Amino acid sequence: MALRAVMSWYEAIGVDAVVLQDPIDRFAVVEPPIAPPRAAEPAREMRRRDAVPAAPAPPTTPAQSSGDEVMHARAEAARAETLEDLAGILRAFEGCPLKQTARQLVFSDGNPAGRLMLVGEAPGREEDAQGKPFVGRSGQLLDRMLAAIGLDRSTAYIANVVPWRPPGNRTPSPTETEICKPFIARQIELADPDVLVFLGGAAAKAITGTTEGILRARGKWSSYFTGKREIPCMATLHPAYLLRQPAQKRLAWRDFLSIHERLGKGGTGDG
Ligand code: URA
Repeated sequence: MALRAVMSWYEAIGVDAVVLQDPIDRFAVVEPPIAPPRAAEPAREMRRRDAVPAAPAPPTTPAQSSGDEVMHARAEAARAETLEDLAGILRAFEGCPLKQTARQLVFSDGNPAGRLMLVGEAPGREEDAQGKPFVGRSGQLLDRMLAAIGLDRSTAYIANVVPWRPPGNRTPSPTETEICKPFIARQIELADPDVLVFLGGAAAKAITGTTEGILRARGKWSSYFTGKREIPCMATLHPAYLLRQPAQKRLAWRDFLSIHERLGKGGTGDG
């Protein structure tokens, strides 16, 4: 009974992930232990063995430092020829610690053939449970914003910079974001939308490197190079922010009208 009360209390205050008591530094470089030389071993033999370079790691071997993880992520993302490949590669990828606390990969929702692609920051609790981005309260608002310009999930494609939910909905760390960036870059390249929209400052910053705050950056068109072509892109306010600051919806409305215009007057974004 007392245990149930404690669990309900935890749930009510948002504690919904169990982590270990002692923090684990998953990016620490683990040095292999140095074995003491055996007394009878000839010095020449030891030198020859020391001189042999370690065999290069095969592409799917998990790396040991965050820099290595980013390089590993780049190599893995580059292997994907299709969005299905990319989802499969991400499912097998062990280089991001967020995977260990998330329930599942949240890869995408909507129609990858749609002309509009929207990118958020990271999945929340509902998204983690359902395996789809933007299905919680902010997702419902996003659906209404899309509907206002004649779009829905059959005509737009939705993803996040980070495809695993950070525990307790915390902000993804810079290292976690760096590790996930090659995958979202490849996802954009493979989806090849005509218009790219960043939902919130974090997504805009991760993908374009902008340092401008979202209230300054929003609503301005610029260009994103996918690796194959330049596509128009814009940042707008995150629906979760709009739920907290409903008066700012008028700014988002302006942005969505501008997106609608970019897609072509009266265009539904589906071809
Ligand atoms: N916020 C995001 O940035 N992404 C989601 O999928 C849900 C909420």
